[in-house]
Amino acid sequence: SVDVRVENLLSQMTLEEKIAQMCQYVGPEHIREAEMVMSEKDLHDNDAMGYYPGLSVEDLEDMTRKGMVGSFLHVKTPEEANHLQKLARESRLKIPVLIGIDAIHGNALNVGATVYPTPIGMASTWEPALVERSARETALEMRAMGAQWAFTPNIDIARDARWGRVGETFGEDPHLVSEMGVAMIQGMQGDNFTGEDKVIACAKHLIAGSEPVNGLNAAPMDVSERTLREVFLPPYQAAIDANVFSMMAAHNELNGVPCHSNHYIMTELMRNEMGFDGFFVSDWMDIERLVDLHFVAETEKEACYLSVDAGMDMHMHGPRFHEPVKELVEEGRLSEERINQSVRKILEAKFRLGLFENPFTDLEMAKKQIFAKEHQQTALDMARKSIVLLKNENILPINTTKYRRILVTGPNANNQTIMGDWSAKQPDENVLTIFEGLKQEAPANCKLSFYNCGETLLSIEDSKIAKAASLAKNHDLTIVVVGENSMRYKWDDKTCGENTDRSNIQLPGKQQELVEALCKSGKPVVVVLVNGRPLGVEWIANNVSALLEAWEPGSFGGQALAEILFGKFNPSAKLPISIPRNAGQIQTVYNHKPSQYFHKYKADESSALFPFGYGLSYTNFEYSNIKLSKERVKKNESVQLSVQLTNVGNRRGDEIVQLYIRDEYSSVTRPVKELKAFKKIDLAPNESSVLEFDISPKMLEFYDINMNKKVEAGKFIVMIGGSSLDEDLHKLTFEVIK
Ligand code: IFM
Repeated sequence: SVDVRVENLLSQMTLEEKIAQMCQYVGPEHIREAEMVMSEKDLHDNDAMGYYPGLSVEDLEDMTRKGMVGSFLHVKTPEEANHLQKLARESRLKIPVLIGIDAIHGNALNVGATVYPTPIGMASTWEPALVERSARETALEMRAMGAQWAFTPNIDIARDARWGRVGETFGEDPHLVSEMGVAMIQGMQGDNFTGEDKVIACAKHLIAGSEPVNGLNAAPMDVSERTLREVFLPPYQAAIDANVFSMMAAHNELNGVPCHSNHYIMTELMRNEMGFDGFFVSDWMDIERLVDLHFVAETEKEACYLSVDAGMDMHMHGPRFHEPVKELVEEGRLSEERINQSVRKILEAKFRLGLFENPFTDLEMAKKQIFAKEHQQTALDMARKSIVLLKNENILPINTTKYRRILVTGPNANNQTIMGDWSAKQPDENVLTIFEGLKQEAPANCKLSFYNCGETLLSIEDSKIAKAASLAKNHDLTIVVVGENSMRYKWDDKTCGENTDRSNIQLPGKQQELVEALCKSGKPVVVVLVNGRPLGVEWIANNVSALLEAWEPGSFGGQALAEILFGKFNPSAKLPISIPRNAGQIQTVYNHKPSQYFHKYKADESSALFPFGYGLSYTNFEYSNIKLSKERVKKNESVQLSVQLTNVGNRRGDEIVQLYIRDEYSSVTRPVKELKAFKKIDLAPNESSVLEFDISPKMLEFYDINMNKKVEAGKFIVMIGGSSLDEDLHKLTFEVIK
């Protein structure tokens, strides 16, 4: 069995070889590139970013040959992956290397891959099976490239739109995030990631890294135990129950203790209490930063001690871990058994992934898997289902008999911003930009023209705004694509993504002026947002004819959007996150406590601009015959809700039916509503269907004053409908009796 093989191998390993398994390095091609583009001085200055001027490609290859590297990240090509595995095979014990990559929406960092919508778009589909399918395909494309470990899913709960990484998450709700996270893990890992078509997943970032002070990545978090358990932990418990095999620590400190040296979080909570049975990996440079960012360790050796002692199993990138850890074991501060624990899990992964049998990727197979036809179809399907229609004043789908001459403009209309963060620049022939999608899908009677109002998001010129506005007057309708840019290879123009936080959530640059000028043309304006975080677009929402939130819809985003605008596809997506009006409203979430809006802002609106769960369709659904199976239940009993859904419009469409629960009176305060279940249903015009929901005691539980989970007797309100907005919900009550 795998256990026997692991123990057998472990017994032959020296201490040095064991610690080497805990060491990960960035792929040599990265170092080669850095060496090529950076001067000696730049490399030295970038030491803090992890380039390690002393570490050459030759060193790294030599170390691999000697069995001193356990894992690589961000290997660029299958040839490089095979080369590294070949070197590892030359080592004394021939232990293969585990290769990791941020394949968070397809294996998008590799050129040529299928790029699916970013996770916030995935979550907008409310269709876990689709996310699972994309993850299964991503695993195939990763294995074809020689990687076996995906740093995904990001199951951070996103409640601060200033934080640049919101687009990498599944949004603000613990239940929806859990469902999506599990789907991603199951798609990647299958039952237990045995086989050559599976990879291991990585739940990250442990924990609450999405709520740093001021929205600044890596800033401290202060989170009460109640919020931690009620909001942030549920997706982790779900991930653990789905057997996620790795977890990554967050950059931040939590309540005064950096996550990378947090024994409570890694060992007591995750492993001992919640049952995590895989391995922890550090984030880039974060063990080193226990010294010069968090100041809890005076030396890097002490930092290594704190981290490994707290439960860390693998160090992400760099030569500053092996030696200190070895010394710590020799000095008796860390036991060899502690090292064995880490190594067992890493070897288990390598055995189960089949790397000892065959660590190489077949280059011919790779050609067939990458950007395979079926994967393209999934990416298109997901993109269609991820675009949220936020406003439609009888303009969509576009009637091309009436609106024949259409102007397309805006900084995101004709480039790869639709690919989102953690994507390489993809070959143009693999991507349909929004303008290209519109061209492909436009009916023959429609005349489309494109006006480029600036080369980049932040460089729109006044003269071009004026020109766009005058062109709009000569057209029947304008589609303007605005938003943000998460492309990591366009750093100067990047407004969103990792390490791209903002103090406001308005449209960056002069985009607002552009939209206002177009609206003055007197012709209908359709605004499409391409962005990775909620944007405070209140003026736009009030003044344009139609508004769509496309997020970052990936390789086929252009086609998907065009199909929606021209009416080939009926939109069904719903927001997985509330959209605030401005940064001052942060935090705006649907599952707030009852006292939140006792007092309102004096001069501004207090409600969200668009609430969680919201999204329009080209058809309408009627909810009727809503019934509960019982009016009174015991604490350990379930109650069933049934609802009849009817498509009362004249188009086929999907509705996402959401079920929320509120505990009316409780011994500690409880949210005004919490999502507990959802179902998606496809109905033809006039078609009806009855949906059943099982409301289990688990859905009624909460943490009491002593932080014990329980169900309290009393009245519960069940709400069912098409968004979290009170007006969209039908309410029933039942009572839990003592
Ligand atoms: O996986 C990522 C992490 O989410 C942020 N820092 C870098 C890691 C590896 O790329």
